[in-house]
Amino acid sequence: MSLTRFPGFIDVHVHLREPGATNKEDFTSGSRAAVKGGFTYVLDMPNNPGAPTITPERLEEKIRLAGQKAICDVGFHYGTDGHNVNTFPTVWQNPYVYGLKAYCDHTTGELLIEDEMQLEHVFKAWNSEKPILVHGQGETLSTCIELAQTFARRLHVCHVATKEDVEVIREAKKKKQLVTAGITLHHLFLSPADVKRLGNFALVKPEIGGKEDQNILWEALQDGTIDLVESDHAPHTKKEKKRTSPPFGVPGLETTLGLLWKAVHEGKLEQADIIRLLYDNPKKIFNIPDQPATYIALDPKKPYVVGHDGYETKCGWSPFDGWELYGKAETVVLRGKTLVQAGRLV
Ligand code: NCD
Ligand code: ZN
Ligand code: ZN
Repeated sequence: MSLTRFPGFIDVHVHLREPGATNKEDFTSGSRAAVKGGFTYVLDMPNNPGAPTITPERLEEKIRLAGQKAICDVGFHYGTDGHNVNTFPTVWQNPYVYGLKAYCDHTTGELLIEDEMQLEHVFKAWNSEKPILVHGQGETLSTCIELAQTFARRLHVCHVATKEDVEVIREAKKKKQLVTAGITLHHLFLSPADVKRLGNFALVKPEIGGKEDQNILWEALQDGTIDLVESDHAPHTKKEKKRTSPPFGVPGLETTLGLLWKAVHEGKLEQADIIRLLYDNPKKIFNIPDQPATYIALDPKKPYVVGHDGYETKCGWSPFDGWELYGKAETVVLRGKTLVQAGRLV
């Protein structure tokens, strides 16, 4: 086996669920899933059920809990319900904070801003170099791009899923606006047949589109319209997913890297693209600090089957269960400390 070294990868969009929903995930299990998946730096989202990260106290609590429990580095995106803009200046100065997340369309959690005036208020108040991340599609996305333009804010569009949204982002970039975009691998890889077979276990926001959208998404990934890959690791228990109205979201930390190697294997991407999408661009866009003496090692040609050695995520499933992927992290070293050896967490 010939192992190649890579930097510890960065995932700028994960939901580690602590506090509030530690039945689904917590900083221990979520960070173990990250490290197993080849990531040494993750940015956690603020939509914790019942405990959204919208006050400095909640933020401090997360920083403390992650510091005690996580086995990799964890940074945070602050949340907003539109009523906490007075807390922004203390928050954007916090070195653990990497962005502000605005939920502008319905998804998991209680954070939703639908009122345009309120959204304008938020964009105006976030007077920081740190990006505003948006969950929003179609008209909502266009509104956010306009607001970002008006107030000269950096905007990161999360989980792009449709050809229309790709077009809007491409146009904004042509006008040299400071907009970046991320994509998930469930939106790129799950076919309509997979979505049908998986039922609630493929229920996610934004919903997974058809072949036409997917082809455009691949193009946008290859031509640089999409800047980075984010897992949107959104664990929910099997029990919750089996309900008649299940929560939206699928886990992704343990399959993102393997799916990207599958894309390389199929000639859709090159090795250099993986480094660009999971390291260079996330690092640059979110200004992630260096992690000295940190690397991962893997064999890009070595296949493995998702789920065969179990899951680290507490939810214990994946929409890619049983898929043959490539290039599992065999070694992970963070600041000189070995976390994965021979493909197993130590
Ligand atoms: C995410 C979750 O479960 O927290 N769900 C999802 O369907 N993607 C929230 C989000 O990222 O929109
Ligand atoms: Zn979202
Ligand atoms: Zn998300």
